[in-house]
Amino acid sequence: MRRRSRTIGPAAFAAFRLLGAALLVFPLAVDAWSADAERGKALFLECKRCHQVGQGAKHRIGPELNDVFGRAAGWLADFRYSAAMKAAGAGGLVWTEATLDAFLSDPTALVPGSRMSFRGMAEAGDRADLLAWLRGFSSSRADLPLAEPTATPEEYGLDPQILTVRGDPEYGAYLAGECTTCHRTDGSDQGIPSITGWPFDDFVIALHAYKRGKRVHPAMQLVAGRLSDEEIAALAAYFRDAEDDP
Ligand code: HEC
Ligand code: HEC
Repeated sequence: MRRRSRTIGPAAFAAFRLLGAALLVFPLAVDAWSADAERGKALFLECKRCHQVGQGAKHRIGPELNDVFGRAAGWLADFRYSAAMKAAGAGGLVWTEATLDAFLSDPTALVPGSRMSFRGMAEAGDRADLLAWLRGFSSSRADLPLAEPTATPEEYGLDPQILTVRGDPEYGAYLAGECTTCHRTDGSDQGIPSITGWPFDDFVIALHAYKRGKRVHPAMQLVAGRLSDEEIAALAAYFRDAEDDP
């Protein structure tokens, strides 16, 4: 699979300008002063599966979120964003309280084709609290709290040994045919999450969590239940380096 860069036309640029103007005109639903950062920290549990923030934060399934306020979307050179997210940043999307609020409310409405598989946070109050907490990690890198680790095997009650199994990416490519009947590889969002570009460990943890019923989803439990530890490792090795093919 080869990455073809998606072109972004003048219409898309104009759309982002318009959006920016709209977000400036309509004030946020919740006043910033009423936001509760302590509550926001607890709400970040929904993001922890994919994101780290704080001192020593690393990219995982999603990019690290230090200094995200004021940064252009898809900006970090060492994270593999979707073509859609990079185009959004190139088109003028900058992360502010207002744009982050819109993104968290419905990620793929703001950035269609984004690889962030998150259904969105419906309550404006929840988003305001979460952003109040997240803001503490922007523009003050010296006194960042320690990084929040993302989900570990132990959190799912899995044996950490599963991470030591080596995977053969070529065997993974062969097995992947079954997966891509559902998981699209064109970067578009059809309700089924994108699984390309995940770190090896996170992929292995997710499949074992389905296999052992720690994550509940009938189709994925059936699929993962048939896979051996070696096959899971092979798929993780393959999808880690697989590219979207829009
Ligand atoms: C299932 C994994 C997953 C979850 C859960 C998730 N994200 Fe993401 N997030 C991603 C991925 C992957 C990207 C990169 C998207 C792309 O390239 O299209 C991303 C991108 C972002 C970005 C844009 C960063 C940038 O540098 O442009 C922000 C901000 C963000 N996520 C915040 C959050 C917050 C806050 C939560 C919790 C409410 C959350 N995400 C939940 C996977 C996730
Ligand atoms: C019948 C359709 C179908 C097939 C086939 C399928 N998946 Fe899935 N997969 C899904 C759905 C739907 C979800 C979301 C489930 C959920 O919400 O927990 C999912 C979730 C996942 C996740 C977690 C995504 C996330 O954002 O947390 C991974 C990893 C995954 N699948 C890998 C695979 C692999 C590897 C294969 C092939 C061996 C595969 N899937 C085959 C439908 C499918």
